[in-house]
Amino acid sequence: MEYIIETHALVKRYGDKQAVNRVSMHVKKGDIYGLIGKNGAGKTSLMKLLLGLTSPNEGQITLLGRRELDRSRRKIGSLIETPAFYKNETALENLKRFALLTPTPEEEIRSILRLVGLGDTGRKKAGAFSLGMKQRLGIAIALLGNPELLILDEPINGLDPSGIKEIRDIILELNGKGVTFLISSHLLDELGKIATGYGIVADGVLVEEITAKELAEKCRTSWKIVVDNTAKAAAALRAWQEDLKFDAAGNELHIFSETDSSEVNLVLFRAGVRIYETRSESIDLEDFFIERLGR
Ligand SMILES: Nc1ncnc2c1ncn2[C@@H]1O[C@H](COP(=O)(O)OP(=O)(O)O)[C@@H](O)[C@H]1O
Ligand SMILES: [Mg+2]
Repeated sequence: MEYIIETHALVKRYGDKQAVNRVSMHVKKGDIYGLIGKNGAGKTSLMKLLLGLTSPNEGQITLLGRRELDRSRRKIGSLIETPAFYKNETALENLKRFALLTPTPEEEIRSILRLVGLGDTGRKKAGAFSLGMKQRLGIAIALLGNPELLILDEPINGLDPSGIKEIRDIILELNGKGVTFLISSHLLDELGKIATGYGIVADGVLVEEITAKELAEKCRTSWKIVVDNTAKAAAALRAWQEDLKFDAAGNELHIFSETDSSEVNLVLFRAGVRIYETRSESIDLEDFFIERLGR
C-alpha cells in the first residue's frame, strides 16, 4: 500500500508533556482523513511535525512515499491555526503576495479564488472578511503551488452551518480533482459527512484508525444475545453460516447481520445453548467516538 502520509512511532515532547505519543498513522492517496480529538489531544502538534514546523523527538515520517521530506513538503499545502494574511489588502492582493513564494500566473490565482468562493470580493479588504471568508482565503493560500495534499487544522472551527457547508463543498470539489486531505476537528459532525477515514487521538495517542466503511459496518444494527456458553454458541453459528460476522465477549454475542434473530435463536437452541436475552442494538456513531476520545 502506498501512503501519502505514513508515520512510525512519532513522538513530540514539550517539556514533560508528551503531546504526540508514538503515533503511527496512515493516510492513503485520495483520502479525506479526519483527525478527531478533543482540544489538547495533540492534533496541531502532529500536523506541525508532518509539515516540518517542529522536529520530532523520536520516530519517522514518510510523505508522498519519500523519506526526503523537503521535496515532498513542496507538494503539501497547509492551514494551521488561524491563517495569517494582510488585513489591509484584498483577497487577490493577498494571494498574489503569497504566490511570490510559488510563482503562479494571475489567471490561476483568480481561478483559485473562484474555487474557494472569493472570486468576486472585489475591493473588500481581508480584515473585513467574515470568519468563513478568512478560512476560505487561508485555503486559497494553501492551494498555491498545486499541492497534492492539503493539511487543514480545524478549518471549520467556529463557522456557522452555511460556512461549514461551503468549506465541505470546497474540500469535496478538490478531492474530486485528486487532492488528498488531512483535516483535524474536535467535532465529529463537521467531518462525518465527508471523511473517508478517521484517526482518533486522545492525549497524544492515536487510539484508532478506521475507514468510513468499517465505521458504517460497526454502527449497523447488531443483535446482542446473552448465552450460557459463548464458545459453544460461536461454534454453532460458524457451522451454520461460515461468514457470519459476530463478536463474542464474556457471555455476550454481538451479531452484525441482517439475519433474523429468531433463526439465530433456533440455531443456538438446537446446539443446546441456553439463551438469556436477545436484543437488537445499534452502535451510535457519536457513542463510538465518545468512547474513544477519552477524558
Ligand atoms: N509549543 C508548546 N509548548 C508547550 N506545550 C505545548 C506546545 N504546543 C502544544 N503543547 C501542549 O501539547 C498538547 C497538545 O496540544 P495541541 O497539539 O495544540 O492539541 P490540539 O491541537 O489537539 O488541541 C497540549 O497539552 C498543549 O498544551
Ligand atoms: Mg489544535
